[in-house]
Amino acid sequence: MTPVAQAQPTGKIKVGLMLPATGTFAALGTAIENGFKLHVIEQGGKLGGREIEFVKVDDESDAAKAMDNVNKLIKRDNVDVLIGTVHSGVAMAMAKAAKESGKLLIVPNAGADAITGPMCGPNIFRSSFSSWQPGYAAGEAMAKKGHKTAVTITWKYAAGDEMVRGFKEAFEKNGGKIVKELNLPFPNVEFQALLTEVAAAKPEAVFGFFAGGGAVKFVKDYAAAGLKKIPLYGTGFLTDGTLEAQGADAVGVLTTLHYADGLNTPKDNAFRLAYVKAYKMQPDVYAVQGYDAAQMLGVGLAATRGDVAKKAEFAAALRAATIDSPRGKFTISKAHNPVQDMYLREVSGKENKVVGIASKALSDPARGCRM
Ligand code: BEZ
Repeated sequence: MTPVAQAQPTGKIKVGLMLPATGTFAALGTAIENGFKLHVIEQGGKLGGREIEFVKVDDESDAAKAMDNVNKLIKRDNVDVLIGTVHSGVAMAMAKAAKESGKLLIVPNAGADAITGPMCGPNIFRSSFSSWQPGYAAGEAMAKKGHKTAVTITWKYAAGDEMVRGFKEAFEKNGGKIVKELNLPFPNVEFQALLTEVAAAKPEAVFGFFAGGGAVKFVKDYAAAGLKKIPLYGTGFLTDGTLEAQGADAVGVLTTLHYADGLNTPKDNAFRLAYVKAYKMQPDVYAVQGYDAAQMLGVGLAATRGDVAKKAEFAAALRAATIDSPRGKFTISKAHNPVQDMYLREVSGKENKVVGIASKALSDPARGCRM
């Protein structure tokens, strides 16, 4: 019998963008959307031969509203693909909904370890990082600089807890000791009492995680409290996309991240030029993660000739791919998380200047992922 050729789907692919448009992470959501759309525009508005159409929901970085919000995209709008989001608590609800509905999900920021750990799935991918990755790299970097004691400070929710855990794992493995773990609820920014505790603990260095508007205020308050004599480290979110607002208070802050200023590669230079031309502002790590989420969607759709129902072929293509990112080339682990270099960066002027590679081709341990 002659095999019957299967008809390829035509028409537009509906991409549901669930990102924060309001609140402390609003600028992060904008950068992700800009980056994603930049890649689609560069591809002539099509991925895998099909035109892309967008539907948007503002998730407000509110985990309590996350299930309702993602269901608007899945049930009301019947999207083909989910892209989101920034906040780990909201992204975990998206991963749960993706698991239950079978929709493709690409996470363009949220680091929640569980997404490529116990919640991993054949239709769930991440273009960004697991919280463990930059946390672990910071622990290695701080120990390598010779610091023996540290205080940690973060928002108390999945991303902060996990970055601190990754940091602690590497710092203690290399002989460091955490003398105090401080935290406050997300998205609070009343840092004063905690900064008094930092001063009293007299650590050799401090490790922190905050992002967006919260990171701006933390770095400024740290300097105003007279703490700059204690070296401040963090995952790169502490100073990425925030330097204009942080000004001189951020100078000297050391962070680890999968992106940096001054990489000076042809790919990054071209990306930066195109981004500035399109949006009249500088890109940051969030823009890169959005751009790469679109690149990953493009790889999957090219392999399935635009058919989102072919989940196994989509996943196989991504697992075999090397993504040519502005951050540098990366591959995708079996648990669907980037395997990537973690840069050590130091704030100099208005830049997160690359100082070196803190952890080469760092792969998340994907604890609890069974696929
Ligand atoms: C998170 O919630 O996973 C997150 C938010 C902002 C920056 C980095 C991570």
